[in-house]
Formats: sequence, C-alpha cells, structure tokens
Amino acid sequence: MTTTYAVLSEGLEKRFGAVHAVRGLDLAVAEGTVCGVLGPNGAGKTTAVRLLTTLLRPDAGSARIAGHDLVREAAAVRRRIGVTGQYASVDGDLTGRENLRLFARLHRVRDASARAAELLDRFGLTEAADRPASTLSGGMRRRLDLAASLIRRPEVLFLDEPTTGLDPASRNRIWDAVRSLKEEGTTVLLTTQYLEEADRLADDIALVDRGRVAHTGTPAELKALVGAHAEAVVADADAMTRAAAVLDRLTGAEPVLDHERRAVGAVSTDPTLTLPRLVRELDAAGVPLVDASLHPPTLDDVFLRLTDSKELTA
Ligand SMILES: Nc1ncnc2c1ncn2[C@@H]1O[C@H](COP(=O)(O)OP(=O)(O)OP(=O)(O)O)[C@@H](O)[C@H]1O
Ligand SMILES: [Mg+2]
Repeated sequence: MTTTYAVLSEGLEKRFGAVHAVRGLDLAVAEGTVCGVLGPNGAGKTTAVRLLTTLLRPDAGSARIAGHDLVREAAAVRRRIGVTGQYASVDGDLTGRENLRLFARLHRVRDASARAAELLDRFGLTEAADRPASTLSGGMRRRLDLAASLIRRPEVLFLDEPTTGLDPASRNRIWDAVRSLKEEGTTVLLTTQYLEEADRLADDIALVDRGRVAHTGTPAELKALVGAHAEAVVADADAMTRAAAVLDRLTGAEPVLDHERRAVGAVSTDPTLTLPRLVRELDAAGVPLVDASLHPPTLDDVFLRLTDSKELTA
C-alpha cells in the first residue's frame, strides 16, 4: 500500500527581514497520523504552522496539504484544514456558544446551532457556554479554540502549542481530544516544546531546530538515539575524576561535572547500560558513591544531542 501524505512540504522558506525563521522545511505527515513538531523557543514552529495553513506566503519551497497545492490552491487548502493558534483566536466579548455559532456561520456550516452545541458538549464546555469567553479559565479557552477549529470537520488539523501553560487536567482533556480526532481519521500536526507531549500523542516526531527539521522518527527511535542520562554523585571531590573516567568509558560521551553537587553526568546511547551495571562499574573503580541514577532523556538531552542548539529552554 502506498502512503498518502496529508502534509508534504519541500524546502519551505520564510524570512522576516534579517531573521531567517524557516530555512528549508521538509515535512511528510501520513494521512490519519499525528505528527509532533518539537522544538525550542524561536525554532520556527509557529512560522511553519502559519506557512502550512496559508496564513503566510512562503518565500520559497512548496507544499501539498490534503492533496492541494499550498499556494496555487490556497482556497481549497483552507476548506480542508483547521487551525488552533498559539494565542487565543476566540472573541472575548462573545460567549462560548456565540463564538462557535459565529465560526459555523462564517464557514457556512448548516445548522450552526446544533454543531455549536455538539462541540460544547464534546469539550466539556456546556457550563461555560453562556459566559463571555474572556471570563473562562485558560484551559477552557484553549478547548473553545480547539472546538472552533473543528467546526468544519477538517481533514487536517494544525495545533500550535495546544497545551503550553495548561494544568495537568486541562492538558489531559486536550490530549484525549487529539486521540479521539485521530481515531476518527483526522490528520493532526501539533507543535510542542514538551517531549512528553510528543511522546504521548505523536506517531512521528519532527525535531525542529533553527527553521529546519533536524531529525525525524518515532518517539521510540528518537529516544533510542538520545539515550539515557547517567549520573553518579560521589563522596569526595577527588572521586569525581575517577567517576568521570568510568562514565566516559561506559557512555563514550564527555561527562559533565557539577562540582557543587559532586555529581558527574553523561548521556548514554548504549541500550545495555543499566543502573546495576553503572553501579558495579563505579564500585569496581573504587568510586565512593553517594547516589547513582539512570534517567530517560529530557528535552534538554534531546536538543543537546540531536541539534547544535546553544540556547535551551525547559
Ligand atoms: N512576524 C515576524 N516578524 C519578525 N520576526 C518574526 C516574526 N515571526 C517570527 N519571527 C522570528 O522568527 C523566528 C521563529 O519564530 P517562531 O515564532 O516561528 O518560533 P516558535 O518555534 O514558534 O517559538 P515559540 O516556541 O516561542 O512559540 C524567531 O526568531 C522570531 O523572532
Ligand atoms: Mg510559537
């Protein structure tokens, strides 16, 4: 079976004056899958979403969205997509219900009231339906935004950092919504700064760094590439050098020394490195251990390892 791509971009570029925000974006998102575009602040995620949703015109490159050319068939693309931006797009003075009805009418959806009611129910917004959107909590407002982008039952849904700043309960509701949309066959492209979010939702991850896709893969592939973070906390300053030598040998990565905590850490991509083995090897080298640990990669590990990004944000 051949794969059909809901999003297929090649060499997309966008400059804002001297800032080269998107520098040759190649993305392929198979129909019916969730793609997580993962990247730090300023990587170009929002610009990429705005390009792919026809809100910005690319300086170079091309893309097909839901089978239509992004530039030549922009109107057809717009009819097939939904977008939820990083910042709220609903009108704060209107109630949740009024906002959804307005969107439905703008998009010539038949029976706007019924569609609005259905979406309010689906996103647990019935209580909030008759309050002005400006009085809603951040989580409710984000869900209202998401509901608005679904008015027209899009084939491809673009979500720009849908859960940034939300509490865990609100985040979970958004995650559930994304999962159920996928089950219904919607293709979802979401941007995030959270490795965990991409890990939970995405079939594939595109790691974006400085306007380019630096890496793609399934969450498991990405994590295998990045490896685990091994750390040893030692009893005295002298032992740090010995611990560093052991970690260097075990991981092949340059250990990082934290003198204040007397901790030595290194990233390991060796799948056979386990915590017992780490402890055994340190012990055999006569390192007086206070603590040892082996953690799954953090977002910082991913960026340090897979990009040459110097500026990291948690
Ligand atoms: N309208 C604009 N005018 C000038 N520069 C811009 C504009 N939009 C974005 N940029 C710049 O382009 C780069 C990429 O920005 P973008 O907003 O796409 O990043 P992002 O990955 O979405 O970041 P964040 O995680 O902070 O949302 C940044 O350097 C940003 O300052
Ligand atoms: Mg952004």
